[in-house]
This record gives sequence, structure tokens and C-alpha cells, in this order.
Amino acid sequence: MDLLIVGSGFFGLTIAERAAAAGRKVTVIDRRHHIGGNAYSEDEPTTGIEVHRYGAHLFHTSNATVWEYVNRFTTFTNYVHRVYSTHKGVVYPLPINLGTINQFFQAAYSPDEARAVIAEQAGEFDANEATNLEERGIGLIGRPLFEAFIKDYTAKQWQTDARELPASIISRLPVRYNYDNRYFNDTWEGLPTDGYTAWLERMADHPNIDVKLEVDFFDESQPLNKKATVGRLPVVYTGPVDRYFDYAEGELGWRTIDLEQEVLDVGDFQGTSVMNYPDADVPFTRIHEFKHFHPERADRYPTDKTVIMREFSRFAERGDEPYYPVNTAADREGLLAYRELAKGEQDVLFGGRLGTYQYLDMHMAIGSALSMWNNQLA
Ligand code: FAD
Ligand code: NA
Repeated sequence: MDLLIVGSGFFGLTIAERAAAAGRKVTVIDRRHHIGGNAYSEDEPTTGIEVHRYGAHLFHTSNATVWEYVNRFTTFTNYVHRVYSTHKGVVYPLPINLGTINQFFQAAYSPDEARAVIAEQAGEFDANEATNLEERGIGLIGRPLFEAFIKDYTAKQWQTDARELPASIISRLPVRYNYDNRYFNDTWEGLPTDGYTAWLERMADHPNIDVKLEVDFFDESQPLNKKATVGRLPVVYTGPVDRYFDYAEGELGWRTIDLEQEVLDVGDFQGTSVMNYPDADVPFTRIHEFKHFHPERADRYPTDKTVIMREFSRFAERGDEPYYPVNTAADREGLLAYRELAKGEQDVLFGGRLGTYQYLDMHMAIGSALSMWNNQLA
């Protein structure tokens, strides 16, 4: 074996694929029972509907190198992501656009009229001087829209009132002064035609790649554990960086989500793939309905059943799946200390969203793995 990769998410699999193509022998270990990290999906057994096990995953990128690379393993559908929001019993389009504004104010503003209305409402606070998230949000888009669509939604995500949250959580709140409600602005967008797992498996399908599942790098009863491998062969580690150093510089904070899946005896529950619930009296933040990610599969998906997933957000405890970095000042200080420790680790490279403690979209994880391969491993 020439290289050990800890973690079979998009970061680890991209390194493995490149290394194998270059003739290296690679072993990938993952502590889960499946490959693919958080992008893993599987068919719900009673309906055959593909469910993204760790929350809805939409692929989008403007990076031509990444787009060319991923198309070696899968084709993409022409799915275009759109999100709606149910506020006080009325459905509005997101991101906030002229359609949202005119529906909310029961008006027919032109783009310039809407701009003037929102600018006046946003005058209540100077967003740059805001001392908390509420002041910042109102300073950016005005009180009515902020309170309807952002305030309680964000409070639910963080389990913290908007007045107690730092202004820095929101840098921008883009408002579109036209009726475009396409969620992503990227050049390319779509879902893998045969599903995420087929794509992930094709990346790992090479005689030079050996994948070992249900192997934890820190389990010393396993032959490929940290003690037995580090310093003896090159390692790419994509697990949590604080765990690698046994939390020596403290635990980095993460938010996690709880996903409650339900199979319903109805052909179509909400008419779209993602519905946000921004109001405080609804405990979840969103509902995903998976069949809508693949309208082209209508002929093989059931017409009398659907799969939905309610998403709840909370702070992660040790043992929960870490999803989004909390990134407090203390976290950032801890991260710097871990980066120093990481520099001192002989022949170990840290990568991916957990290994670098940052939120990465799939195309970013893949792009960063391609760079690591080219610059540090090839
Ligand atoms: P991961 O996929 O997390 O893979 C890391 C792997 O390492 C895991 O399989 C884990 O089991 C393994 N591991 C950890 N510790 C150990 C250990 N000790 N021993 C062995 N194995 C270990 N991206 C998009 O582009 N579009 C989206 O719509 C999107 N939606 C998302 C929604 C949610 C809720 C979340 C959390 C993420 C979303 N992402 C999305 C981001 C996407 O999931 C990441 O870009 C991708 O997971 C990054 O891959 P990775 O390899 O860095 O990490
Ligand atoms: Na303002």
C-alpha cells in the first residue's frame, strides 16, 4: 500500500481516484457501513425513491475543472433547484425576490419601486454598525421581510434568539429585484442521473483502490489505526481535526441536524422538493420531498406514495454527526492551534470539511482534493 486515506467522502474518494489512476495502491477506510460520506444516498425500500441519507444534496458548480472531472463518473439531470417558504399559512418563493415582495406586501411594485421600499425599511438600522443578528438583518432588508423569513428560521437553526446571535453570522442577505427564483447561480447544476451512490462507487471502482468499511482510524484493535500507520506511510485524513489530536486544544463546535423520515400514502405531499418553515411555532426548519428531485423518474416512482424528511437543527454533542461549523472566536483560535499541530505531523495531510473545519459544498471538496493531489501528492 502506498497511501492510506481516512474517510470515503468526496474528498477522500477524489484523492483515491487520482492516486489509483497514477498507479499508486490506495486503501480507503471509513467508520461508516457505506462509502460516500454525507453525500451517500439509498433507495427507500418500500417505494424505491432515492433518499439523501444525510440531508438533501444538490450539485452545482462554476468550476470547469471540477465539472469536467465529475462528468467522468456520472451524467447529470437538468434539475434546477428552487425553494419555497411557508410563512403564516402562505407559501412564498425564495430566495427573496420581486415575487416574494409583491406577494408579501400585496403589491405590484416595479423593480425600482421595490428597491426604494426595501431601502426605506432597511434604514431602521445601519447594517455595518449592527451589534447583533437582528439589527443586521433589519439593516439589510428591513423589518417586515426579516421578521417573516429570516429571524425565527435562523433562531431555530441556532437555537438562539436573533438578538443574542452575532451580526457576523449573516454577511449578505441578497434580494433579487426580478422574478428569478433559481436557487443557485452557478454555471452547471443537476443531480447525478443514477443517484449519488452509483457516482461514488464508480470513483472507487479501480483495481488499485481497496475500500474497508466499518474501520475506525482510532480503534487500536484495527490493523490500520493511527498508531500503526502514521509515520510509516503517507496518510490523508478527512475526519475531524480535533479528534485526531485527541481534543488537545479543545473541542471545535458544530451544529448537527436531526432528520425524521416518513413514507406517506399520498402521491404528492407538497408539490416541490424543499419547503422552508420559517415560523417559530413549527419545530422543524424544512421538509424535503425526495421524489421531486427526480421528475424524470416519474415512470418508476410510485404515484400513490411519497417520502418526506423533516429537518431539525441543533448544537452537536460529542457522538453526533458534525454538520456545520459553529465558528465562534474560540473555535477559530482552536483551529489555528490545530493547524500548527497538523504541520508537525509527519506525512499526514488534513483535508475535507472535517479535517479543515469548514463548510464545503461538494464541488469545493472535490476541487480542494484535486489541488491537494496536484500540489502535494502527485
Ligand atoms: P464527508 O462527506 O463528511 O466524509 C468524511 C468521511 O470520513 C465520512 O464518511 C466519515 O465517516 C469518515 N470518517 C470520519 N472519521 C473517521 C474515522 N475516525 N475513521 C474512519 N473514517 C472516518 N454540498 C453541496 O454541494 N450541495 C448540497 O446541497 C449540500 N448539502 C448538504 C447538506 C448537509 C446537511 C450537509 C451536512 C452537507 C451538505 N453538502 C452539500 C456538503 C457535502 O456533504 C460535503 O461537501 C461533502 O460531504 C464533503 O466531503 P468530505 O469528504 O470532506 O466529508
Ligand atoms: Na440599513
